[in-house]
Amino acid sequence: MNVKAIIPAAGFGTRMLPFAKSVPKEMLPLVNKPVIQYVVEEAIDAGINEILIVLSKGKEAIKEHFSHNDKLNELFAKKTFPAELTALEKLSSSVKIEYIYQPAPRGLGDAVKIAADFAGKSPVAILLGDTVMSSPVTGMLVNKHLLYGGKSVIALEKVPQEKISSYGIAGGREIDNGFWRLDKLVEKPSIADAPGNLAVAARYLLTPEIFTELSTIKPGFNGEIQLTDAIANLIKKEEVYGCQISGKRFDAGTPVGFMTANIELGLQNPEYKEILKIKLREILDQNN
Ligand code: G1P
Repeated sequence: MNVKAIIPAAGFGTRMLPFAKSVPKEMLPLVNKPVIQYVVEEAIDAGINEILIVLSKGKEAIKEHFSHNDKLNELFAKKTFPAELTALEKLSSSVKIEYIYQPAPRGLGDAVKIAADFAGKSPVAILLGDTVMSSPVTGMLVNKHLLYGGKSVIALEKVPQEKISSYGIAGGREIDNGFWRLDKLVEKPSIADAPGNLAVAARYLLTPEIFTELSTIKPGFNGEIQLTDAIANLIKKEEVYGCQISGKRFDAGTPVGFMTANIELGLQNPEYKEILKIKLREILDQNN
């Protein structure tokens, strides 16, 4: 399988200021790993071994995280290397991670567009670098893509009305349980203009034809080049499907998403879950 992954991680992180002023929001820790490590692991679990991370200036910590660190090796030379660090070293050597810089913040579509040469003629999985999934969503998209003639499939999640204007919203015909043939996609519409309540959920599997569409679209919502607009044009030319995610989506680029993700992932961690439950109960009791 030659699906390649693009991880856009160039956004400034305005919703996580002041933290994100000097540290990339993608480097926020969830339990003991940065958000972007979960994203890279999700791509690897989907069978992908070529990844391009789109950065902007000041986000070099992401590169550092995935590069070999001699100092750490020296530090642990005479001791046992912690399992999590061994896993990270293995990850970094088992996958090819490349980096490219987005020169200016012109939107998600622009960040993906500059990955055109990297993608070549391969289908691409796009995983937003600030969002962690509790289920293997990219793997699911790859499976559906193979099952449905190598066409594009995007991850969807039903959202309440008041959230509609915060997402790309899809419309279409449900052809299987939780699986749609899409006929519409609108970036952050008003409730009146929304084709439904199915929101684009941070993961996409797109045919390379997306790059043709990206090269022709004009700035859209918020004056930015929107990936949503390029997919909306792709829908007019070839089949694009949408698949509902089964687990949870944690947008660590927002304070509530970040805090919730830490609690949920902490409660799933065998080492911390019991003590975390005790602490959470104590905190809730004290705050009631
Ligand atoms: C981006 C996309 C939007 C999508 C959302 C969550 O918006 O433009 O279509 O629904 O991610 O995946 P952002 O949250 O970056 O404003």
